[in-house]
Amino acid sequence: MSLLQVKDLSISFGGVKAVDGVSFTVEPGEVFTLVGPNGAGKSTIFNLISRLYEPGGGQILFDGQDITSLPAHKVAGLGIARTFQNIELFDHSSVLQNLLIGRHCRRNTRWFEELLFLPKVRRSEREHRLLVEEVIDFLDLAPYRDKLIAGLPYGVRKVVEIARALSSQPKLILLDEPASGLSVEETQNMAWWIEDMQKDLGLTVLMVEHDMSLVSRVSNRVLAVSEGRPLAMGSAADVQADPKVIEAYLGTEATS
Ligand SMILES: Nc1ncnc2c1ncn2[C@@H]1O[C@H](COP(=O)(O)OP(=O)(O)OP(=O)(O)O)[C@@H](O)[C@H]1O
Ligand SMILES: [Mg+2]
Repeated sequence: MSLLQVKDLSISFGGVKAVDGVSFTVEPGEVFTLVGPNGAGKSTIFNLISRLYEPGGGQILFDGQDITSLPAHKVAGLGIARTFQNIELFDHSSVLQNLLIGRHCRRNTRWFEELLFLPKVRRSEREHRLLVEEVIDFLDLAPYRDKLIAGLPYGVRKVVEIARALSSQPKLILLDEPASGLSVEETQNMAWWIEDMQKDLGLTVLMVEHDMSLVSRVSNRVLAVSEGRPLAMGSAADVQADPKVIEAYLGTEATS
């Protein structure tokens, strides 16, 4: 069974169809990538899946369950985590604190238990802490664990965003432009992290990315979208060679 099924998804903003009848499935363990020109609707598709936006039409199934109408925190609890195109971290908190916040959807203690700091709460704190430390080790973030986000280089903050998402122990991770703004070397490292997430953690990855060398290297399948509509699906090479895709990119260059 597919891990994620997106069926005929649509949303309009003020009469403009940002996403217009997009369907695709993501299979367990694959890296599936959305590509397309600026404004194509890629981040909007992420916002619909993570339930920040209400779809105008269509259906989203995760692990066989219809999540189209679930609130965002329930979707996170089911095992979908994401990063944002513009990094969304708490700047004046440390890396460790940001990752502990990332575990929020896994909290299973009640407010009165926390108030009394019962043994169950202490045990649960310890478990959260251990898991977050594992994520820090996995992504080589130990040198930064107690540093404030605000003082970290951009490339490190991009990795911390992924760490925050991993801290919620997702089955599916949505990465919105993980390599944007990164140097060639940092992009290389990002490719390794994505491969490690897939191979070592067994995670399923849904990614949006413009860097076609990264896309070609890590993606099992690629879907190109333009003006909210699907254009072509297949391997990175097939999609890049598709005349409709070439035309869509040329069209945006000609008008921008
Ligand atoms: N909250 C919103 N309100 C109004 N319009 C929106 C909103 N979110 C997205 N849009 C519009 O929807 C369209 C798709 O935007 P989206 O951010 O999904 O594009 P994208 O493919 O992620 O582009 P990029 O590669 O530049 O990140 C754009 O025309 C954008 O202006
Ligand atoms: Mg975007």
